[in-house]
Amino acid sequence: MNAARPSSHPRRVFVIGATGTIGRATVRALIQAGHDVVCFVRPRAGVGGALAPDDSTKLLEGASLRFGDVTDAGSLARDGFRGERFDALVSCMASRTGAPRDAWAVDHAAHVTALAAAKAAGVSHMVLLSAICVQKPLLAFQRAKLAFEAALIESGVAYSIVRPTAFFKSLSGQIERLKQGKPFLMFGDGELTACKPISDDDLGRYLAECLDNENRRNRILPIGGPGEAVTPKQQGEHLFALLDQPPRFRRVPVALLDAIIAVLGTLGRAFPPVAEKAELARIGRYYATESMLVFDPATGRYDAAATPSAGSETLFDFYARLIKGEAKIDRGDHAVF
Ligand SMILES: NC(=O)c1ccc[n+]([C@@H]2O[C@H](COP(=O)([O-])OP(=O)(O)OC[C@H]3O[C@@H](n4cnc5c(N)ncnc54)[C@H](OP(=O)(O)O)[C@@H]3O)[C@@H](O)[C@H]2O)c1
Repeated sequence: MNAARPSSHPRRVFVIGATGTIGRATVRALIQAGHDVVCFVRPRAGVGGALAPDDSTKLLEGASLRFGDVTDAGSLARDGFRGERFDALVSCMASRTGAPRDAWAVDHAAHVTALAAAKAAGVSHMVLLSAICVQKPLLAFQRAKLAFEAALIESGVAYSIVRPTAFFKSLSGQIERLKQGKPFLMFGDGELTACKPISDDDLGRYLAECLDNENRRNRILPIGGPGEAVTPKQQGEHLFALLDQPPRFRRVPVALLDAIIAVLGTLGRAFPPVAEKAELARIGRYYATESMLVFDPATGRYDAAATPSAGSETLFDFYARLIKGEAKIDRGDHAVF
């Protein structure tokens, strides 16, 4: 793994969303670069609240941890910033479910609250982990993210809005199935979409380096990993080759998702919890049919060549390490988005 470059100007950095997949990688990179890192963390963090304060402290070694509630302005000021000065706010925070209510509460409202508290603490630059899919917003969580992006751009604080393509964890969910001799599942012919996946550490370094890199200031930054764009079918073929198994695919029609969405959508009008399930099915459909590449509105097409690359680890390198047992997947509640 490449180390992050030492910063030419180490800063005091306040991090939110530090306990997530990309948050952890970003904290590692910020510390390697020599920044003074303070993470504001929930007392019960991680998937399902599995991390007690001591667990989070071990996970984020090298950073100072403060515990409180980022959705509460009082807690942010009292438990988080504590009246101290900071140079930068880095956020890898995102709704763990993507359900509309949580997305608006976390991806939008909590970010607005955190940015106001950060400004009061002297912060002059915010680095925000967003998502490439907001360029074609059809889902509630995408609209919530875009609303905060707009608020940040308007805020007067310098911004680096990083919109990555797909994460490795979202493309690694089928390995156990294949090891059990089951076929690789893909929507349509497995070539409806493509993406340029980026590793957690490559993305963490990219986010950390936004603090020093003037070219990444006041910019929206779509970013993918190294190499060519890959389709789901290519992912399956590569996994079968690594497992030394003959390729077996099962095509799932997108119409199946449409039927599920229609049923859940209708039921959801009477039963609100079902409406959330309908939104999750819409999220699934989105990723089954939309590529994680830069979208050209003029042509209405996704453009792999126009999607910038960073870092060194490819998805296929990661698959090889996973199969050898040298890497593991950090899958959250919903690893698809
Ligand atoms: N998966 C993909 O392929 C992909 C691709 C591009 C972009 N993205 C974007 O990347 C982001 C997800 O990154 P990730 O996988 O690193 O996320 P993750 O592992 O789900 O972590 C989410 C972080 O946000 C924090 N958080 C969530 N709700 C919170 C709340 N109410 N209060 C305080 N903290 C809260 C979590 O804290 P706790 O530990 O306390 O829960 C955690 O630190 C999303 O914005 C997604 O759209 C994903």
